Amino acid sequence: MIKVITYGTFDLFHEGHYRLLQRAKALGDYLIVGVTTEAYDKARGKLNVIDPLVTRIENVRKTGFADEIIIEESQGQKFSDIKKYGIHIFTVGSDWRGSFDYLHDYCKVVYLERTKNISSTMLRERNSRIQRIGMIGTGRIADRFVPEAKLVSGVSVQGVYNPHTESAIRFADKWQIDAYADKEEFFSAVDVVYIAAPHETHYDYIKTSLEHGKHVLCEKPMVLQKAQAEELFRYAKERGLILFEGIKTAYCPGFSKLLGIACSGMIGSIRNVEACFTKLEKKESRELTDPVYGGSFLELGSYVVLPVLKLFGKDYQDIRFDTIRGEKGLDIFTKTSFCYPAGIATVTCGLGVKSEGRLLVSGTKGYMVAEAPWWKTTYFEVHYEDDKRVEKYSETFLGDGLRYEISDFLFMINGKSDTEFKLTRSESVALAEIMECFMQREKRMNEN
Ligand code: CTP
Repeated sequence: MIKVITYGTFDLFHEGHYRLLQRAKALGDYLIVGVTTEAYDKARGKLNVIDPLVTRIENVRKTGFADEIIIEESQGQKFSDIKKYGIHIFTVGSDWRGSFDYLHDYCKVVYLERTKNISSTMLRERNSRIQRIGMIGTGRIADRFVPEAKLVSGVSVQGVYNPHTESAIRFADKWQIDAYADKEEFFSAVDVVYIAAPHETHYDYIKTSLEHGKHVLCEKPMVLQKAQAEELFRYAKERGLILFEGIKTAYCPGFSKLLGIACSGMIGSIRNVEACFTKLEKKESRELTDPVYGGSFLELGSYVVLPVLKLFGKDYQDIRFDTIRGEKGLDIFTKTSFCYPAGIATVTCGLGVKSEGRLLVSGTKGYMVAEAPWWKTTYFEVHYEDDKRVEKYSETFLGDGLRYEISDFLFMINGKSDTEFKLTRSESVALAEIMECFMQREKRMNEN
């Protein structure tokens, strides 16, 4: 019996897929089809798959060509599948010609001619209008955003608004996009808005963007008051718009995997979370000189508080901040402690004190640890009482990682999938409340 294997995503199942499977089956007697998981697709940079895995499997099954369907979840699996299933022929479409020649030593490799003028990418683009992104703000993160957005199909960066016209023009020239000094012109040229302006401007920019009927992706911290976050989410909902807080960690595949394992019970009940993120900044930087909106907690607090909210929730009983101040009186190092009914958390961030950046989650059966830069999660370990038992997990984090949040934002706009669970609205509200609590304390300290 000749055994054939092929692999694919098979998103928005189309004629090209059907013909490929038909010819693959005709190459032998028994056809195994590997369908990729969402996590594997994300890891290899395919970020906009629309159909869930079950639908893609079902569509392959319905063709009647597959004798067996398996899932493909990692790089290197093809090699082990060939051995495991005793495969004689490996086949894929001609767009992959040459890519799998290395399998020649183990089985025959056949590249089948690809069906012309059809692909999942074409269907995705035909089904959803390209969303033109307008950017507000031209800082460091904005520079990272443009190349990342180029990697997400379904969006294009149209232009940039900055009240400082010169900055807008400089940025627009660099990235070959349009510069707008007039807000109305800007809003009429774009479909969605990305806000990367200073923290204190977020509330007004979000509100105006929503008033103009635009979906909004806003950099963290989205706003600095609980009531503002609640009001804006309500306002967006009433208008059928998406308001989305961009904390890249929340959307990257490695962090999702880490949360999944933490919540699976493998380390028992979670009792302690510690997270630390420090980044030394120059003394004259905005982060260390802005008397109201500078300081380490506003800059990095969203990252370190995120795992606490994800793992323990929003209902902490007590919160306490301990701060070391720099010359300008701003916090250069802040430790925040949370007390929950059944656990505690301590998170640390610093701009003027360096420490070991680590995420540690301790449970009743074991603990998980991810070293810096855990906020771009690529690797973590699970440890137990028996120190010889260590489980290691890795995951891809591509580029600057903003592509993951852009792609989830787009999914929500297109109503294709609700990825809100990665950072819920109520978690964003809780983050705003924690920021507010910190700022009130800072104000009191400065008054005394
Ligand atoms: N395929 C084909 N003819 C097409 C499209 C795909 O023969 N017009 C083949 C691919 O070469 C692969 C299999 O179908 O062997 C599954 O491809 P997949 O990547 O899932 O489909 P695409 O339409 O190429 O998807 P995308 O546009 O997302 O890359």
